[in-house]
Amino acid sequence: MAVFVHLTDLHLRPPGVLTLGRIDTDRYVVQAIDAINARHPDIDAVIVSGDITDLGEDEAYNRAAMLLSRFPVPVIVVPGNHDQTAALREAFRAFPGLGEETVPGKACHAHRVAGVTLVALDTSIDQLATNGHHGELGAAQLEWLDATLSQAGPALIAMHHPPFGVGIGFMDKIGLADARGFAKVLARHENVLRIVCGHVHRTIVSEVGGVPAIAIPGVAHQVVMALDDATPAALVMEPPAYGVHMVDNGRAISHIGYVESYGTPVLFDNPVPA
Ligand SMILES: [Fe+2]
Repeated sequence: MAVFVHLTDLHLRPPGVLTLGRIDTDRYVVQAIDAINARHPDIDAVIVSGDITDLGEDEAYNRAAMLLSRFPVPVIVVPGNHDQTAALREAFRAFPGLGEETVPGKACHAHRVAGVTLVALDTSIDQLATNGHHGELGAAQLEWLDATLSQAGPALIAMHHPPFGVGIGFMDKIGLADARGFAKVLARHENVLRIVCGHVHRTIVSEVGGVPAIAIPGVAHQVVMALDDATPAALVMEPPAYGVHMVDNGRAISHIGYVESYGTPVLFDNPVPA
């Protein structure tokens, strides 16, 4: 069985700076890494699905690379809408796939780990040039994905923006622009077991062309569950969490774990005397 831990939306600022003036993301990220390393000693890789930093400063990327190096397994990183790809590449050049540019302008890469191909897609755009937070894969990356999947075997795809609508109006406005093009490529392959995402800072499950897709909560703040088009964008301090995706006998199984500890487990076979 292959086991992959998944964390997302770290939103780090330089050390000592609170994210959005109020969230100590550094502390949350340290707590998440410590909890995962203590609870899951036998994993095959870690997936980090974007928004490594909140505003793209070099010091924030250097701190992120140092913290994520605490995992004793390969760490597969994709950028999100808050990331600056060039700065991320510079700080993460020792991480798998980020030292070379396979598709011009995109940080996509693929790795065979424990019998599963982890395909990392880059949905980020030049946020500074476009002033936008939506995602876009682009034709060249979709071609690369098509070619990669044709020789991948069982595969998991990691990407920041979910390739499906989530029903939260303010998040769907900054969704994946070319989700249809992505679905067309998926339809040509039968080896994708699951699509795993971030961006929406919540657990949301859907499917794309019959492939189960899951977005997971962030390791710090979450997005409010506003199931309408009118609520303004807002965050909420629901519990930080991470995903665990297991692949066994050609099937993927996904769990969500909370970073915080909720006490010592109590055996079912140990009732309190009446
Ligand atoms: Fe985010």
